[in-house]
Amino acid sequence: MNIGVITIFPEMFESILKSGIVAKAINNNLVSITFSNPRDFAEDNRKTIDEKVFGGGPGMLMMAPPLEKSLKFLKKKLGDDSLVVYVSPQGKKFNNVLSKKVVNNNKIILICGRYEGIDERFIETFVDEEWSIGDYVLTGGELASMVIIDSVTRFIPGALGDKCSVEEDSFENGLLDYPHYTKPRVYNGKAVPDILLNGNHEKILDWRQKQSLGRTWLRRPELLENLALTDKQEKLLSEFIEERKNLMNE
Ligand SMILES: C[S@@+](CC[C@H](N)C(=O)[O-])C[C@H]1O[C@@H](n2cnc3c(N)ncnc32)[C@H](O)[C@@H]1O
Repeated sequence: MNIGVITIFPEMFESILKSGIVAKAINNNLVSITFSNPRDFAEDNRKTIDEKVFGGGPGMLMMAPPLEKSLKFLKKKLGDDSLVVYVSPQGKKFNNVLSKKVVNNNKIILICGRYEGIDERFIETFVDEEWSIGDYVLTGGELASMVIIDSVTRFIPGALGDKCSVEEDSFENGLLDYPHYTKPRVYNGKAVPDILLNGNHEKILDWRQKQSLGRTWLRRPELLENLALTDKQEKLLSEFIEERKNLMNE
């Protein structure tokens, strides 16, 4: 998987390049990240990449020419068929579906805005898609790009190793993940649910599925609207709701 990043702050990415799953994936040649700094392509000695906005108003804007040269540099390395994404609060909400799309495409160039953002004409000419990581405004696109890189890396076959599996994580089957427990068996007076300790794998699977359905119903009910539940899942969810009602009445 080849990732290109256009940023005036490449040093911000050191954290993910040095630790955790992304660093491991890079060391195992599963991911390669190439940076391009628009300052290296600035047209004056002061390395200017931003200017005041036409029409007045606060803040500065990243200029199109250094961004264009930065993009051309990365396209030469990664290929012209790279998906070009501008991370922006105005973009499509990023999710697992987009993450998998990146893995399938195998090449992505992420453009990190700063200041008031980037010149609209650059977006119109060169950007394939705009993606947002949430309804809030960051001071720059670097953190958003790191979120995307981290999420995409999880879906690269072999990146997570045998120990973890993306298949059971939240959203994978349209549901939230079930609760997890580890040692000690009793913590703060709370015991691990008995069912997880009795070794009956079928019952454990049913319990987990019930909790997964129940959590989704409680926390993200809109996710259930898009799912066609099996008869068994309907039954497990009804049981969860009944058990919860009883708990509330106790
Ligand atoms: C201060 S923001 C610019 C906000 C822009 N003026 C607006 O209101 O839409 C600077 C840069 O941070 C990045 N950014 C901010 N919020 C983001 C979000 N929620 N998702 C992705 N990128 C974001 C973008 O690259 C943006 O160009």
